[in-house]
Amino acid sequence: MPRKPRATAKSAEPTTDWGQELAAFGPDPQPPEPPAPPASDEPGRLAAARAALERLATWVPIRSLARRHRRRIVDHLLSLTPQDRYLRFGYGASDEQIRHYAQGIDFNRDEVLGIFNRRLQLVALAHLAYGQPLPGGSGRTMAEFGVSVLAQARGRGLGRRLFDTAALHARNRGIDTMFIHALSENRPMLRIATAAGATVERDGSESEAWLRLPPDTVGSQVEQALDRHLGELDFQFKRQARALSDFVDSVAEVKSHFDTSGRAAKE
Ligand SMILES: CC(C)(COP(=O)(O)OP(=O)(O)OC[C@H]1O[C@@H](n2cnc3c(N)ncnc32)[C@H](O)[C@@H]1OP(=O)(O)O)[C@@H](O)C(=O)NCCC(=O)NCCS
Repeated sequence: MPRKPRATAKSAEPTTDWGQELAAFGPDPQPPEPPAPPASDEPGRLAAARAALERLATWVPIRSLARRHRRRIVDHLLSLTPQDRYLRFGYGASDEQIRHYAQGIDFNRDEVLGIFNRRLQLVALAHLAYGQPLPGGSGRTMAEFGVSVLAQARGRGLGRRLFDTAALHARNRGIDTMFIHALSENRPMLRIATAAGATVERDGSESEAWLRLPPDTVGSQVEQALDRHLGELDFQFKRQARALSDFVDSVAEVKSHFDTSGRAAKE
């Protein structure tokens, strides 16, 4: 049986304003008023342009993670509830099992994708494991996808974005099949997979989803390169902003210290 998870410092933060933290990741999943539905006779080209604009407006910076991010990966996974660990790994992973899993990620072979909030907290994480043999003994390999999004950040399309990005990366590596193992009760995960065109095979409490990927093109390679640069830029920008904010905080702290001692001296 899984051990009771250890509360991490980050998950215990009581003051995080998640609405503000997540504003950059698109609209609130429960907006006060739903947007007006598009006119039914809208021409196809206009609809496509609108979809492209929406995609651009809700662009989410996704970053490829490396070995040096292992601690953040562990923190993210440890902050998942027992139920989420069960959904993510197919069993109620203990803290020790999570550390072991994170330690075993092969960054040379696999890809790990992450989405950071303004405080550089990893709010969403995907692992694309390459080299899994395709059933049937053809000798070909597939990529297996696993994902988790912090509970506070769900319903904003982050899981879907990570899925789409992982599919793009796998495709650009010449992989033609992406595989997802999920519990049959995991409706959000199966919804993401089926919406992308995956075939789902249910076997009791477990399901397997198979997504066929098209061959890569110049466009798909350019898209990945562009995303990578923008994701990196966004991360560096957040890092600078955080350093600046820490600096302003420490100046304010020093100032308040001098104000207090000045007042005390006068008194
Ligand atoms: C699965 C998970 C990653 C989804 O993350 P997310 O960021 O909330 O996903 P998205 O916002 O992209 O939404 C996913 C889709 O599921 C749908 N959905 C959400 N809850 C649902 C529910 N209870 N039933 C059916 N569909 C649901 C959403 O409407 C959305 O579909 P749409 O875009 O067609 O509207 C997240 O729930 C999670 O981390 N779960 C725990 C770990 C896990 O289950 N990992 C997957 C196994 S590898």
